[in-house]
Amino acid sequence: MPHRTRPPFARRGARAARSGGCDSGDVVGESVAEAYGRRWSAGAAVRAEHFAALSRPAWEAVLAAVGVGEGTTLLDVACGSGELAALARARGAAVHGIDAAEAMIALARTAVPGADLRVGTLEALPWPDAAFDVVTGFNAFQFAPDVVAALAEAARVTRSGGRVAVCNWGGAGPQDLVAVTHDLQALAPDAALVPRRPIGEPGVLEELLRAAGLRPSAAGDVAVPYAPPDRRTLERGMFAAGNLRHVERHLGPEAAAAALATAAAPFRRADGSYLFHSTFRWVVARRD
Ligand SMILES: C[S@@+](CC[C@H](N)C(=O)[O-])C[C@H]1O[C@@H](n2cnc3c(N)ncnc32)[C@H](O)[C@@H]1O
Repeated sequence: MPHRTRPPFARRGARAARSGGCDSGDVVGESVAEAYGRRWSAGAAVRAEHFAALSRPAWEAVLAAVGVGEGTTLLDVACGSGELAALARARGAAVHGIDAAEAMIALARTAVPGADLRVGTLEALPWPDAAFDVVTGFNAFQFAPDVVAALAEAARVTRSGGRVAVCNWGGAGPQDLVAVTHDLQALAPDAALVPRRPIGEPGVLEELLRAAGLRPSAAGDVAVPYAPPDRRTLERGMFAAGNLRHVERHLGPEAAAAALATAAAPFRRADGSYLFHSTFRWVVARRD
């Protein structure tokens, strides 16, 4: 897997031109990664405030599974606001990260001062071959138009004997948040910029990792419940960033709030709070 110099963002002119850029804030001619970077930058701080803690059990499970410790060199792709990188540093790792959203990287630089954190796409990582012991991607690779190519890029920067760890909504447990998200995304064109693929379903990540030349070696499911205390908090969190921010812009705040209330009604409790049961599936794969 030789290291090639590539442009950081591949163009997606035809798609953007077809969609007209419309209400999405996307710019005709920008890449998928740039468009996602824009969507995730806009509400990065609010998203972090609402969701940073949610994934923590999955981050901890993966860091333990790959044995991250003193001196491990770790790259987190689509690192968001940097919480996983901060946990890895607390274990003694030398941490690196990349995200398409400038505002996410700004937050990550605060969470992990002095770390090597860059704005860019996971499709073309700006590091040489075999640079890392561990490469992680949480809720990340599904944003790539070509998931296998993105995993192969992660494999390229992983040393021989190192590991690539991927984590996505999925596994055998409930998927309440995903169900609500899908209901809402169906209401806006171009809500997702790449086709939805069930990459967290058991066996699918393993297949994708094998196709990228990696050897799956461990996997697990982690429960990640989400319990906003009221409807307002739910709205702020769900529409903060990413594809659902696009949905809110498309529908307008009132219609979006009404659609969310309908989709989330099955998870509303008598006191007005909500409880969503969700599951992350993680898979660790070895680079031979
Ligand atoms: C659901 S968030 C996950 C963030 C973080 N990994 C976590 O677990 O909290 C998705 C992140 O992927 C980033 N992203 C989307 N497409 C990307 C791409 N092509 N390259 C790098 N980052 C991307 C977004 O900017 C956003 O920060």
